[in-house]
Amino acid sequence: MKVLVVGGGGREHAICWKLAQSPKVTELYCAPGNAGIAQLATCVPIGATDVAGMVAWARENAMDFVIVAPDDPLALGMVDAMEEAGIRAFGPRKNAAIIEASKSFSKDLMAKYHIPTAKYQTFTEEQAALDYIDAQGAPIVVKADGLALGKGVTVAATVDEAKQAVREMMEDGKFGASGSTVVIEECMTGPEVTVLAFADGEHVVPMLSSQDHKRAFDGNRGPNTGGMGAFAPSPNYTPDIARRCMEEIFQPTIQAMKAEGRPFKGVLYFGLMLTPDGPKVVEYNARFGDPETQPLLYLLDSDLFDIFNACIDGTLDQTDIRWKDGAACCLVLASGGYPLSYEKGNVISGLEQVEGAYVFHAGTKFGPDGAYLTSGGRVLGVTARGDTLQEAVANAYAAAKPITWKDMQYRTDIGKVWVD
Ligand code: AMP
Ligand code: GLY
Repeated sequence: MKVLVVGGGGREHAICWKLAQSPKVTELYCAPGNAGIAQLATCVPIGATDVAGMVAWARENAMDFVIVAPDDPLALGMVDAMEEAGIRAFGPRKNAAIIEASKSFSKDLMAKYHIPTAKYQTFTEEQAALDYIDAQGAPIVVKADGLALGKGVTVAATVDEAKQAVREMMEDGKFGASGSTVVIEECMTGPEVTVLAFADGEHVVPMLSSQDHKRAFDGNRGPNTGGMGAFAPSPNYTPDIARRCMEEIFQPTIQAMKAEGRPFKGVLYFGLMLTPDGPKVVEYNARFGDPETQPLLYLLDSDLFDIFNACIDGTLDQTDIRWKDGAACCLVLASGGYPLSYEKGNVISGLEQVEGAYVFHAGTKFGPDGAYLTSGGRVLGVTARGDTLQEAVANAYAAAKPITWKDMQYRTDIGKVWVD
């Protein structure tokens, strides 16, 4: 089978790494890919959001199967466009990807189907939003409605901070059209856990639980990032909580999307908060998370290509999905200054000395002499296994030791701060 993975980050490297182990995947392509992915797949220089260009290339090169990994092309309808061109594609269609692309859609869905989440109201008028904040008081959470690279959320400790966030979104257009509608939510408390699940429109099969670390610096300080590291499974996710999540959140969400005429096929990402009143949804994503995917797929024992096919065929209930014992940890090595401004093009050294881990590339490219150069904020994700979480974390840090480049930055407490 000729298989194309759309995207070019650490998540896509992990997907390619796992697919390359499937005997059914005989030719692997990735667009646009990166220098690490190029070890496993043929990289194709097409941007992940170029729907027409991607479909044309997939058709001309007779792809049998396309995996659309990032949020933007899913929200743009790349899966629909592939299907219209007669190409089998993995990922939700546009009308289901909206569960991530519009927070007001997902909040309304949860309200309608009694899926536990923070109380909220949606606003398109600035003054009404400011009045609501005055009436509710702080702490309170302000969210831009649309996709904002995970950065459109302000957890405000004061009324002034919340109002400032509304003004930036609605007056200053900080997130463009994504911020012209805002959702204002009750502030929940409790540990956060992420559960990614495979879904086939009818059935939902959760993967192991996981946790990422969104803040840039140790101790959960500094600006929000795409994720500075992740591990799986989460010690906070007990069998009792897992059962409640399945009954109260996962199955109801899949059934709600089906009832709305938007069957969800693909990976559904549940961002959860384990509140004193039980597990509640913080957010949905319509895709694999990055970097959660790296430790998760590192622990997956089954054939990922078989699972992707079962999601499309509606046969997940007959599919065996097995996980390795123990835990895995992905330590992100980032460019100094990320997520604000950072240099690109620095030479990465020490990669060949890494032992006992797999290094997923997030933002790398080849220099003229074949050296690996940095080309993004998040550059590498050093991923290791262990019998326990502590062992997996120690193994990831030990494996990362030889790697360096100018101004490299990373957190020293990945896997150690699972309760804020
Ligand atoms: P989101 O992009 O919706 O996942 O939000 C980013 C982060 O903001 C989450 O991981 C939480 O830490 C925090 N957050 C979002 N919504 C709430 C809420 N209603 N209460 C408390 N924290 C929240
Ligand atoms: N790591 C969070 C996300 O992928 O959205």
